[in-house]
Amino acid sequence: MKLTNKQIQHFDEEGYIIIPELFSAEEVEVLNAEISDIFSQRREENVRENDGDTVRTAFATHTYNDVYRRFVRHPKILEPAEQLLEGQVYVHQFKLNAKAAFNGDVWQWHQDFGIWHRDDEMPIPQAMNLAVYLDDVTEFNGPLYLLPRSHKHGVLDAGHDTTTTSYPLWTLDEEKIRELAEQGGMVAPKGPAGTGFFFHSCLVHASPPNISPWDRLIVYVSYNNVKNYIRRFKRPGWIAHRDFTPLELEPEDCLVRV
Ligand code: SIN
Ligand code: MN
Repeated sequence: MKLTNKQIQHFDEEGYIIIPELFSAEEVEVLNAEISDIFSQRREENVRENDGDTVRTAFATHTYNDVYRRFVRHPKILEPAEQLLEGQVYVHQFKLNAKAAFNGDVWQWHQDFGIWHRDDEMPIPQAMNLAVYLDDVTEFNGPLYLLPRSHKHGVLDAGHDTTTTSYPLWTLDEEKIRELAEQGGMVAPKGPAGTGFFFHSCLVHASPPNISPWDRLIVYVSYNNVKNYIRRFKRPGWIAHRDFTPLELEPEDCLVRV
């Protein structure tokens, strides 16, 4: 699936695009059917919330689950990634972010590339997230908050927050968030399961805790241009992948064919 010029222009100017009904109800059902098995596994890739039980993020699922192995090669996300990143790509990071009903914790204000650059020595922001909603995302269940156009500022100063949640993050200070929000406003992209949400790796974003009774599962594939591979292997390979082989497309019906 190729993006239109209008979509590319919106991505360049605002730092993100929303694609309604990117995946069908049938495809979402196939992706969701794997979740209880994945989340029930006590493996290091499944990072739990501070309660020690609720899954916060299931990393690297595409390396051991065949449905997600095909998903990261799906033309609906891989082709736009190759288009926006101008070349062949590999998966730098894969996350199923659960943001579970009642227990899903905050994600502090950050830029993904700021983390990939500082922790993994990724040279330039020729990487991005192609996310798909696997639950309906509403104003209640912890949608992402974005600061449109903040990607134009490059890598911003950040401090390493290792205490707020169960997962360490390079986070921005309140003064900078206030300034960027005054300049570009704030958006919380909502939509039913199946919605696509693609965003620039320098876009500043966060999400509040989920105190609603509804789960908010989103799958994020962070693609990186193969030439922009990471230079430092400090973090575990299941957080920052080290297989830089270009991905090859699966067929359009790879999730639903019998
Ligand atoms: C992230 O920023 O990587 C995750 C945010 C979220 O899933 O709410
Ligand atoms: Mn992020």
